[in-house]
Amino acid sequence: MNQDYIQPNEWSILEEGFDVERVKSSESLFSIGNGVMGQRANFEEHYSGPSFQGSYIGGVYYPDKTKVGWWKNGYPEYFAKVLNAPNWIGINVFVNDEALDLFTCKKVEDFTRELNMKAGFHRRSFVATLPNDVEISVTATRFLSIVEDELGAIDFEIEVLNSDVEVRFEPYLDGGITNTDANWEERFWKTLEVKSEGNKGFVLSKTLKTEFHVNTFMQSEVLLNGEKQDVEFTETKTEDKLTFSYSVKAEKGQKLSLRKYAGYVTDMNHKRSDLVTAASKVLDYATNSGFSKLLQEQKEAWAKIWEMADITIEGDVKAQQGIRFNIFQLNQTYLGKDERLNIGPKGFTGEKYGGSTYWDTEAYCIPFYMATKDHQVARNLLTYRYNHLDKAIENAEKLGFINGAALYPMVTMNGEESHNEWEITFEEIHRNGAMVYAIYNYVRYTGDFTYIPEKGLEVMIAIARFWQQRVNFSKNKNKYVMLGVTGPNEYENNVHNNWYTNYIAKWCIEYCLESIDKVKDAYPEDYERVMGKTKLNEGELAKWKEVADNMYFPYSEENGVFLQQDGFLDKEILPIAELDKTQRPINQKWSWDRILRSCYIKQADVLQGFYFFEDHFSKNELEKHFDYYEPITVHESSLSPCVHSIQAALLGRTKQAYEFYLRTSRLDLDDYNKEVEQGCHITSMAGTWMSIVEGFGGMRVKNDKLSFNPTIPEDWESYSFKVNFRDQVLKVKVSAEKTVFQLEGENAIEINVNGKSVEVNPNQEFAV
Ligand code: BGC
Repeated sequence: MNQDYIQPNEWSILEEGFDVERVKSSESLFSIGNGVMGQRANFEEHYSGPSFQGSYIGGVYYPDKTKVGWWKNGYPEYFAKVLNAPNWIGINVFVNDEALDLFTCKKVEDFTRELNMKAGFHRRSFVATLPNDVEISVTATRFLSIVEDELGAIDFEIEVLNSDVEVRFEPYLDGGITNTDANWEERFWKTLEVKSEGNKGFVLSKTLKTEFHVNTFMQSEVLLNGEKQDVEFTETKTEDKLTFSYSVKAEKGQKLSLRKYAGYVTDMNHKRSDLVTAASKVLDYATNSGFSKLLQEQKEAWAKIWEMADITIEGDVKAQQGIRFNIFQLNQTYLGKDERLNIGPKGFTGEKYGGSTYWDTEAYCIPFYMATKDHQVARNLLTYRYNHLDKAIENAEKLGFINGAALYPMVTMNGEESHNEWEITFEEIHRNGAMVYAIYNYVRYTGDFTYIPEKGLEVMIAIARFWQQRVNFSKNKNKYVMLGVTGPNEYENNVHNNWYTNYIAKWCIEYCLESIDKVKDAYPEDYERVMGKTKLNEGELAKWKEVADNMYFPYSEENGVFLQQDGFLDKEILPIAELDKTQRPINQKWSWDRILRSCYIKQADVLQGFYFFEDHFSKNELEKHFDYYEPITVHESSLSPCVHSIQAALLGRTKQAYEFYLRTSRLDLDDYNKEVEQGCHITSMAGTWMSIVEGFGGMRVKNDKLSFNPTIPEDWESYSFKVNFRDQVLKVKVSAEKTVFQLEGENAIEINVNGKSVEVNPNQEFAV
């Protein structure tokens, strides 16, 4: 049974009723972020029940020393982790000296939570009866500003319902936090100073080893019935913690509120010596603006994001809520302003995956950011990898590669590999292909070839070198083969000739050769620079070509399909439909050994290749491969359903595409994988966007033009999306009867709809 407590709503994620069993799931689902920092939806006041505390700062990490049973040469020394950072949301509340703690209250009624996606805030309200029988009604609103991205704000409002009382608010900053995920139970932070200046508070800390300096700050105001109060406060300092204490009397029916402005400034953006001044400036901005104005600015800033990124779905509230949740979370995780940041699979919603960068960004996230933001954002994501090229070369050297060959890390914070399971670190090398594919995809979509001569070509050369060195010539097959790899399907390890890996390797070499020729012709200066730097010579190019022309691909004549890897047909092929439901998910029910021997596929593998290189194959071939592989795919990676949704739509199987769509878009909301407590699946959310735009909308870029092949799921009245294509915005609205295009630009564009070329003029609806 999937979880189903989230109330359907078009613009909000809603929970009703307090249930301690759901607290951790909701902490993930109601997470907030602003692209620079983010946090789980932990309660502000003390909560003694089960909870998973998390507040994260983009780019601030700790190299947690690797812990493995059998150390293998080439393993990275550490696994980088985005850390649970000092807590600034804390506001302990005492009513007549009794602590407010939802876990110990006599009664909690009318509990609701809302993640308001339109305006970008989290709100929680409830009526609680404390152990001392005082009844209070609480409404706590919190957001992380996307306008001033070092700032967060909380309005914690209490109405006393049944008596006159004294309320004590204790807003605090706590640097004494730990990570749930820590290999050696070490502390990751050291508090340097706990400091106050009037009612401004600061906790200065640094991460151990990486030495990121962070100043966590706060300032609070007390209001009675909306009027600011001049309340005396006391302060308590401990080694890691600063607490201010405000006591106020309130009569029955009065509303008391504590407004807390807080956040982080770090030495990634300020001089260390300026961290207190910088924090103080943010606080001045906050207190001068006030909560309502900040919230208003937040709403306006989110409205701008939605203006471009929104997808509407009429006639299916759950599907609508699903897509908006995905778009919202992606924007909370990454807004593209800083090329040092990236999109971790859990974003700012949990610790798993270390908050680091995976191939997910290149394979899944780039299209979303390219189409819904300025193209510079996607370029920043590409530049992130360019900036890590030297580290990727070092990484390959550690494994014995030479001559500037690069292996990009499976997982990284700063360019260094930080994954340490041999079958993935050393073998899941297909990730290198995604780096090049993203460059190709960017150029295809934006038409901005300049990225290649300026930066991309160096990356491509280093990767082509890697592939050429990674294969070996098989006399037996008279072809180049690639041994000992793990494909995208991680339920197979150390296989030979994973079709996807061989295919993308060949393609990377060919695309690199083609790009070298283009750069030589059109950007001679860059060509000279890159050739000088890489010392590439004709002999090497000839070797690459020899490999690309003679790559081996496992194929089954009998089934008419490429085989996922050598020996795949030795497996017992049993469709999942015949597997007892109690056996799933197999990664929670079966031993690893059993999984490896089974035919079951975790996520698109051969089909991932068919997705990337759709034009290389006929529809018939796609259909054959889809029918062969999908029935044995368990979709136990969040990245799987979206690819299948797009392909099912292309094959005209709209119903199946819709099922996959729901699965990807509501993966977390309905907790399909039964693990949402650990955080949300952020990167696959971009796949949800693709399922609509590329799947149902059938959008592709062909020969510098957009093309569409729209279909619509039965339950939907219509859906619409917008794409920024080469600095013009095209809105597409699809219903069963027609598709309407609207261009917000200045120049007419030619697009292809259902195979026919048509012209769309600016600011005129065009219906097909
Ligand atoms: C998937 C990988 C993915 C990673 C992070 C794994 O479960 O198999 O393809 O990169 O999760 O999302």
